Amino acid sequence: MSVNLTSVLKANGLSMKQAAEICGVDKSLIVKVVGQNYHNWQQKEKELISAIQEAGYHKTGDDLLTINTDILVKTSNVSRFFDLADDLANPDSSLSSSLGMAIGTAERGKTHAAKHYCRRNENAVYTLYVDGFSRVQLLRNICAELVGSRPYSFGSCVSIIQEVSRVNRRLIIIDEADKCPLSILEMLRGLNESCEIPILLVGEEALKGKVDAVPRLRSRIRKPICVFESLSISDVSVYYSAAAGLSLDQPLIENLYRRARGGFRTLTNDSLALAKIARSSGLNTITPAMLDQLA
Ligand SMILES: Nc1ncnc2c1ncn2[C@@H]1O[C@H](COP(=O)(O)OP(=O)(O)O)[C@@H](O)[C@H]1O
Ligand SMILES: [Mg+2]
Repeated sequence: MSVNLTSVLKANGLSMKQAAEICGVDKSLIVKVVGQNYHNWQQKEKELISAIQEAGYHKTGDDLLTINTDILVKTSNVSRFFDLADDLANPDSSLSSSLGMAIGTAERGKTHAAKHYCRRNENAVYTLYVDGFSRVQLLRNICAELVGSRPYSFGSCVSIIQEVSRVNRRLIIIDEADKCPLSILEMLRGLNESCEIPILLVGEEALKGKVDAVPRLRSRIRKPICVFESLSISDVSVYYSAAAGLSLDQPLIENLYRRARGGFRTLTNDSLALAKIARSSGLNTITPAMLDQLA
């Protein structure tokens, strides 16, 4: 986080009026610089920060609480997801039954796990199925991820995918596959077979019902399927430690865990809101009283 006037004021518990007195300027100047509403405000901001520091206020505010939502907590869901993806992507593993399935209620962290897996494994690509996509739209997006180009026709998409997977084992992860109509799931099964490319379908529980209803699909699903369970109390505590560097007391963790109702989204949103409250009070930790301020 870069040092700016707002964080310097907060960190040192100074009001704009006090800062103006310290710097010997009019308060309206401080207001304008904070609002980036002054010609050459960047230069002025540096001067004001220097003047405040010279007056003995050395806190910069870059030690205030921030949340890194990009981290990945290695929950048991994530471990099982990575195991399944590794198994499918492993060039030595069989290509028979090489359609994988990962299902779970919304907000359990499926998309986050899939994206992180692809970041760490260059042989795996992530694509999102958007309700209403045609077969060729989906295939073009897959090609874009695999080779960076978007062939026009259905046939040329399939040829490219075939060529690519002949060179080395790749894995296609399709998110929100529960929204795919059966015709698209059937097409993916054909692609899996004709191109010898493993595919991991990710979606909500409805995906399983769709697949189970068609024996041709069901028999090609790699076991075990990955089911995303509710998050655990220890996931909550690991999250706060990894995302914010905080080791919170057990009652606070339990409270945050109850609010999250098994999903990651509320946990993340709560952490962002709490960090904001903490920063505005110039604190770098989270207290039980802050929780009462959450909606
Ligand atoms: N394992 C994890 N570690 C850290 N944050 C996570 C994790 N899983 C999910 N999140 C957070 O929760 C949010 C919602 O998760 P998401 O993957 O979109 O859920 P789903 O795809 O199952 O609906 C993500 O945007 C991310 O910020
Ligand atoms: Mg998702």
